Amino acid sequence: MKLLTFFLISLLPLLSLARFNNRLSRQQSDSRRGNVARGTTYMLQTQHQGQNFFDDWDFFTGPDPTNGNVQYESQANAQDLAYVQPDGTAVLKVDNQSYVPPGGNRRSVRITSKETYNGGLFIADFWQFATGQTVWPAFWTVGPSWPNGGEIDIVEYVNTATVNQYTLHTGTGGNCQLNPNANSTYRSDGGSQPQSYLGTTLGTQCMSSNGNNAGCAVSDFQGSAGSPFNAGGGGVFAMLWDNSQISLWRFDRNQIPQDIQNGNPNPDGWGVPMAYWSSQSCDIANAFQDHSIVINISICGDWAGSAYNGGGSCSDAVSNAANYNNAQTKINYISVYQKA
Ligand SMILES: *[C@@H]1O[C@H](CO)[C@@H](O)[C@H](O)[C@H]1NC(C)=O
Ligand SMILES: *[C@@H]1O[C@H](CO)[C@@H](O)[C@H](O)[C@H]1NC(C)=O
Ligand SMILES: *[C@@H]1O[C@H](CO)[C@@H](O)[C@H](O)[C@H]1NC(C)=O
Repeated sequence: MKLLTFFLISLLPLLSLARFNNRLSRQQSDSRRGNVARGTTYMLQTQHQGQNFFDDWDFFTGPDPTNGNVQYESQANAQDLAYVQPDGTAVLKVDNQSYVPPGGNRRSVRITSKETYNGGLFIADFWQFATGQTVWPAFWTVGPSWPNGGEIDIVEYVNTATVNQYTLHTGTGGNCQLNPNANSTYRSDGGSQPQSYLGTTLGTQCMSSNGNNAGCAVSDFQGSAGSPFNAGGGGVFAMLWDNSQISLWRFDRNQIPQDIQNGNPNPDGWGVPMAYWSSQSCDIANAFQDHSIVINISICGDWAGSAYNGGGSCSDAVSNAANYNNAQTKINYISVYQKA
């Protein structure tokens, strides 16, 4: 990370010159075509990858706010649960070695980025995402005083689920709803797609109130989570968050756009997103602020516990270490880009 920052700083004059030239030529061609410039260039702000992956995260060690049977470990105590493989893959996992009594807490990890964001283009490449009975893994972003400041769940599912779920949670700010028919820049199909995103609507009220914390959520297709996602070598989740939208795309390993692979991501070419929240029905700037990125693997608790159907009770199943042989999240990289 630090090396990378140094590298970027030394390249900055060069890059901005290149961008200036790009912009010039784009303006020229746009004016020739006589239409409005649509392309936006994104510049890498932060990348977590390889041997330095864990440099800029805090390890959360408090009790699970969602009542899981989990003991989140400090970095010093999580050397076996959060580490980088020799090939540069970052691994976060649940302890599948130790004996835990029925109803006890099993060791796991939850990391939070030190850097915070008020928007950006977030690209996360996972080789594998944790799965298994009692397991509740997530990749999400959240503001400091939940639910005010909001929460964006990018990867989240429980137990042996094979469908990923995307959810926004908000406080009183922003008056946020999910409008499936919002006008979208990404309706490249000319409007034949019945809604502005590909996924299935689960709920439209984003605000958490009176104990209703379901949020406004969209589910992905079959195979977007758990074993089938992992069997395919994982894939990329991309989120574009700005004042006009929160858009989420998922790409299978063999369908990752070339511009993402090249480090020049351009959402304009990615087609209709899997989930899309428009500022037409949510004051995004008001509802989502100062987000950290969080990756955690919880066990049982509010969601995985109530959805558990693996025999016996969820909290007793924590004792079975074999439930955690696939409770591993393996990360290629997480990058954040900002509009240039
Ligand atoms: C882990 O992630 C889920 C997903 O959103 C979240 O609801 C839960 O509170 C997280 N666990 C902890 C300890 O934060
Ligand atoms: C979408 O765009 C059409 C045409 O510009 C407009 O009439 C309509 O009100 C818009 N819908 C929303 C939800 O903003
Ligand atoms: C824990 O999980 C890993 C990865 O699946 C597996 O290789 C290992 O054998 C498991 N450990 C035990 C004690 O089962």
